[in-house]
Amino acid sequence: MQVILQRSVPHSSSSNRAWFACTHLWAADLYGVHILQSIGNTTNFPTVILSSFMLPPRGDCSRFDFAAGKKEEVRNCLRRFVEKMLAAYFDCPGGPENLYVKEVMKPHPGEGEVLVKVSASALNRADLLQRRGKYPPPKGASDILGLEAAGSVAGLGPGCKGQWKIGDAVMALLSGGGQAEYVTVPEGCLMPAPNDMTLIQAAAIPEAWLTAFQLLHFVGKIQKGERVLIHAGASGVGMAAIQLVKLANAIPIVTAGTQEKLKATANAGAAAGFDYKNEDFSEKVLAFTQGKNL
Ligand SMILES: NC(=O)c1ccc[n+]([C@@H]2O[C@H](COP(=O)([O-])OP(=O)(O)OC[C@H]3O[C@@H](n4cnc5c(N)ncnc54)[C@H](OP(=O)(O)O)[C@@H]3O)[C@@H](O)[C@H]2O)c1
Repeated sequence: MQVILQRSVPHSSSSNRAWFACTHLWAADLYGVHILQSIGNTTNFPTVILSSFMLPPRGDCSRFDFAAGKKEEVRNCLRRFVEKMLAAYFDCPGGPENLYVKEVMKPHPGEGEVLVKVSASALNRADLLQRRGKYPPPKGASDILGLEAAGSVAGLGPGCKGQWKIGDAVMALLSGGGQAEYVTVPEGCLMPAPNDMTLIQAAAIPEAWLTAFQLLHFVGKIQKGERVLIHAGASGVGMAAIQLVKLANAIPIVTAGTQEKLKATANAGAAAGFDYKNEDFSEKVLAFTQGKNL
């Protein structure tokens, strides 16, 4: 049994309809695809017109082979083309005014992937750079913004190891796609959302906080009483680092580019802070530590 889904050129410039060709019309009926009009046979397949809501992306044409009678497989396959979600999107790189909410294909979890229903996502500088066209997503990653998110498990792809179940509250480190209603994540990039945090708080943990945690504990092997110099102390990673250094009973010292930023770092717990644009921070740091190493 063969099913072909194809978006063809609209039959008039004002039309946003697509052709849907399939060997078995029941395949369309099966998932409740709304057939607007039958237009006869094309390349030996019965051909129908779908409502614009159901459009596969422009130019997309997929051909699937199924073992005879595998209706469930056909249903799953069609679902990829008919299920939609909303996402923050931009067509042209630029400022925040270019962002809008767009209806896009809902992702489906592949091998070893988990589908997460997103409750919250966070904003990192990398998102801002990507929106301006200066930081393209890695090859194969979603072009939707969002490098981290929190929500609940909504689906499991084939080959998942049983670590997650539907409904689990999770937070995810993403290569993109977090600023949407759903995102797929390799199961290894998923973590349980901490019980004592809201999902909004948890959405801000994976990028900045885990970066700071990794640097301080895995790389720097921070010890109690040590002095830690954090450049760009008022950055997302810097603010997380200040608080993690305090939690490790060590002493955070920062640099930042303005007095306002230094005030913010002091509020977060920095023991000392220096404006590297207007003073020699190395001299100031040594004076603060009385010549002791960082
Ligand atoms: N956010 C993440 O999840 C993440 C993950 C992995 C790695 N990183 C890395 O960690 C660093 C901080 O990232 P972030 O997201 O926390 O940054 P952020 O919140 O956007 O802050 C970046 C800070 O860097 C300083 N800066 C100096 N030169 C800059 C320039 N040319 N453009 C922009 N900022 C400049 C600014 O502070 P001053 O005015 O005080 O100089 C600025 O506030 C970056 O190197 C980033 O690549 C971040």
